[in-house]
Amino acid sequence: MSDATSGQGPNVSRRRFIQAVGTTAASVAAGLHIGAPARAQSRSANGRLGVGFIGCGGRMGAHIGAVQQLKNEGQPLDLVAVSDVYKPRVDAAVQATGGKPYRDYRELLEDRHVDLVCIASPDRHHGPQALDAVEAGKHVYCEKPMTHWSQFEVAKKLARRVKERGVAFQLGTQRLADSIWRQGAELIRQGVIGKPLHAQVGYYRQGDWGERGMPILDPSAKPGPDLDWKAFLGDAPEVEFSVQRFFCWRMYLDYAGGPPTDLYPHVFTPLATVLGLGMPTRVSAAGGKLFYNHEREVPDTVNILMDYPQGLTVACMGTQVNAWEMEWVIRGAEGTMTFSGPGIQIFPADGRREPVKEVAREASGDVREMWLNLIECIHSGGKPWSPVDMGYCVQTAMNMGMLSLFEGKTAHFDTDRERIRI
Ligand SMILES: NC(=O)c1ccc[n+]([C@@H]2O[C@H](COP(=O)([O-])OP(=O)(O)OC[C@H]3O[C@@H](n4cnc5c(N)ncnc54)[C@H](O)[C@@H]3O)[C@@H](O)[C@H]2O)c1
Repeated sequence: MSDATSGQGPNVSRRRFIQAVGTTAASVAAGLHIGAPARAQSRSANGRLGVGFIGCGGRMGAHIGAVQQLKNEGQPLDLVAVSDVYKPRVDAAVQATGGKPYRDYRELLEDRHVDLVCIASPDRHHGPQALDAVEAGKHVYCEKPMTHWSQFEVAKKLARRVKERGVAFQLGTQRLADSIWRQGAELIRQGVIGKPLHAQVGYYRQGDWGERGMPILDPSAKPGPDLDWKAFLGDAPEVEFSVQRFFCWRMYLDYAGGPPTDLYPHVFTPLATVLGLGMPTRVSAAGGKLFYNHEREVPDTVNILMDYPQGLTVACMGTQVNAWEMEWVIRGAEGTMTFSGPGIQIFPADGRREPVKEVAREASGDVREMWLNLIECIHSGGKPWSPVDMGYCVQTAMNMGMLSLFEGKTAHFDTDRERIRI
């Protein structure tokens, strides 16, 4: 990997790569308590669901607001518990919810009033905390990304255990609340564009991460009774405390991955839903930290190319430096599908820009609708809009992109052994 690719030397990339595909399974397994398979049971009285919130920073505000609103609208939900490693955040969440405070999320999972957890901690904790929640028989609304880019084995285990435990799991890619992705999937099944061969999606915006994007709430904060640095690190490499790492964690590869894992799940999961994508056969990425030149480690500009076994190639592209958007397109042998206008437009395959078919969106939505969908699935046993198996495939494709970027090689998916090879 060249310096231009990541802004780091090859030794660093090699270390990250070994961490990602070599040691993660063992370190993760050591941190998990895996119980015997069992059907999850709601322990709530009167059919009400007690919700516990893990990681109560910026994003959790939207979830607390949505759950409170749904409760006010008469949904059988109670905001019963909150957890964070930073006391000021716990205090604020208690104020917002009236829930019982926990500093350690594992204690929240032992609370018998909690039936359903929402996880919005930094990326690295999503998988391990969701796994622990699933083992405890809780239903889960987990923010994207499903895991950190180095945690392939965690994503794999989570996908398996959600099914084995029979709990409901919604991954927080809220664009899936828009019906056009499911409508698009149906049109693809009907063959309106023939065999899909080529697809493109992108995520373009302008703005760095760092102190402007992630404010340092207290420059004098330090580990102690109010801040659990060890719990923040989880299975990340042990490093000395720094306020930047704690508050602006998105800048660091130990805790985040930049656009491929933070932003692309928002655009790639809808596309994967329309196309019914499973695991890619091979993934290759280009780009790196091309512009924001400070202590930020994660890339700002990345193009990822993915091949799928059904004979389909997909490009997922973007930058955080320029917000000029690209069109989302699926090109088939007999037509072209776009997601502009009133919903979905179908064009002829010869490039003419006159739509041959237009399909209006049936319903739109956001976080509130994602919660409603999850609640409905808890009761019906149905499949949520953003299910764990789709999350596993999307996360793996993005992880392969990250590894390809670091190594300067193509990453392959070994279906027989269910693992990444590079
Ligand atoms: N779906 C979306 O549109 C969307 C939008 C923003 C963020 N997110 C996701 O939400 C997550 C949180 O992002 P944020 O912007 O709120 O970050 P944040 O830093 O504001 O909040 C994270 C919180 O987690 C706490 N925390 C850290 N380690 C913890 C641990 N081990 N256990 C419990 N709490 C812990 C921190 O103290 C902090 O309060 C990210 O993974 C991000 O990708 C999703």
